[in-house]
Amino acid sequence: MQQQSSPSPKKRVAVLISGRGSNLSVLLQAARDPNYPAEIALVIANKADAGGLDLAVQAGVPTAVLLAQDFPKDRAGYDAALQAVLVEHRIDLVCLAGFMRLLTAEFTRLWAGRMLNIHPSLLPAFKGLAAQAQALAAGVKIAGCTVHLVTADMDAGPIVLQAAVPVLADDDEASLSARILAAEHQCYPKALAWLAADQVMVCESDGGGYQVRLRQRDTTREQGALFSPTIA
Ligand code: GAR
Repeated sequence: MQQQSSPSPKKRVAVLISGRGSNLSVLLQAARDPNYPAEIALVIANKADAGGLDLAVQAGVPTAVLLAQDFPKDRAGYDAALQAVLVEHRIDLVCLAGFMRLLTAEFTRLWAGRMLNIHPSLLPAFKGLAAQAQALAAGVKIAGCTVHLVTADMDAGPIVLQAAVPVLADDDEASLSARILAAEHQCYPKALAWLAADQVMVCESDGGGYQVRLRQRDTTREQGALFSPTIA
């Protein structure tokens, strides 16, 4: 008789938020698919009024709120508390989804290769706050979003997936942010699925940095260029 191999257990994911949680929402949605390799097992916010907390409650996902004011001038203490909650909930992977708080180098080391962030720019351009406004101010014609593994440096770390969108002549911060956000919502569930299914390999790049390759996937095929404005 042939022995059936049991499917790999789903990775238990904590999503860390500070605000409305639209990226959390698409991750929750993706994880409803029985074939998705991850389950959202915990949502942590650093703001008591983060809108995403309601989404978690509606989805029946446990939540925790860790307020900075409970750890005055103590980043290490905050991150130790964060770590304790993650361990308590047996979390395998962490997704930062609009979590507007810097993490200590020690915490990022604990989660090296197991923590993703999404940022609304084509990194390494426009790190930090208001990335979409920075893109408009720079006059770039193409903007986008990045999902990357988190390292000690802010908005840095091996890039897993990027999506580019055009910047239109009449864009303002709101319209550009909405276009980028729609791309974020396509990218994050995909990138998490790859990480949860052990598809993400971090390799050294020629320049002495690092690049992500995906197992079992040909990422060498050339795609057409995106022109903005269009040239046809
Ligand atoms: C998203 O646009 C995300 O890329 C950004 O915050 C927003 C959160 O929206 N994150 C950063 O700027 C991190 N540097 P959401 O709460 O609706 O997911």
